[in-house]
Amino acid sequence: TDADALHRMLDQARSMKDARRTFPKAVPDEGKPLDGRMIALIFEKPSTRTRVSFDVGVRQLGGQSMVLSGADMQLGHGESIADTARVLSRYVDAIMIRTFEETTLEELAEHATVPVINGLTNRTHPCQIMADLMTYEEHRGPIKGRRVVWAGDGNNVCASFLHAAGQMGFDFTFTGPEVLDPEQVFVDYARSKGSDVRIERDPRVAVEGADLVVTDTWVSMHDSQTARERRHNLLRPFQVDEDLMARAAPDALFMHCLPAHREEEVTSTVMDGPQSVIFDEAENRLHAQKAVLRYCLGV
Ligand code: CP
Repeated sequence: TDADALHRMLDQARSMKDARRTFPKAVPDEGKPLDGRMIALIFEKPSTRTRVSFDVGVRQLGGQSMVLSGADMQLGHGESIADTARVLSRYVDAIMIRTFEETTLEELAEHATVPVINGLTNRTHPCQIMADLMTYEEHRGPIKGRRVVWAGDGNNVCASFLHAAGQMGFDFTFTGPEVLDPEQVFVDYARSKGSDVRIERDPRVAVEGADLVVTDTWVSMHDSQTARERRHNLLRPFQVDEDLMARAAPDALFMHCLPAHREEEVTSTVMDGPQSVIFDEAENRLHAQKAVLRYCLGV
């Protein structure tokens, strides 16, 4: 997707949010743009925000959705991804998938004849970043030319932030332990588009003058106790607390895609403080994804 298309989706997400401020959540959007459309929502991993925001979003657009557990599908019991894609394409108008491996998403998209939306993989989480861009811009105006600082693990959400940095023209600093650096391919992409990407091991230096400070959970629910302890030890210096936020720009925002582990990657004082927009991010998943669905379906 090019930057113009991203801007158009963000504009549409904002207008859909504005248009329903005075309406009950259950009322469909004007014109019901997804009327008569069926969207499959596949989850191979747990989810609260992605599952509910996509399900509600489809209904608000006047469409219907079916939530499918990867484990309950034949996909989880030996049927190939390609055949699953071919079959689902006969039934539904679009597929959203949250999956362990990005290769699964790619193979599904390659063999489906309907749009396939990335609801999170091991490498990327673009729908989250659409919501985060929308959230930043509704609070502070255009993100172009601003500096985003990511503290902690250079994970899938960090990778999608880097992708957005290249497309939307903002600068990006990663601060975290070297073993958890973001994939170089995402750093290279952002730099190739003109984004000033820095790696800074000292979090206090990294956040100097930042416009936005972002972090994410340090552990995966699949980590063993030993792995959790190892990651905690590595990541503890990168916790976002009030002292760290005080070094950012005075009007800096704080983001976390949630779910959060309070007092681990971030203190409650920051999560619940005046710079935090975490629940706006969650709300904006709904509107940003509705715009993504409309873009993918051409409605
Ligand atoms: N941020 C996010 O993707 O949340 P869920 O895992 O609850 O979907």
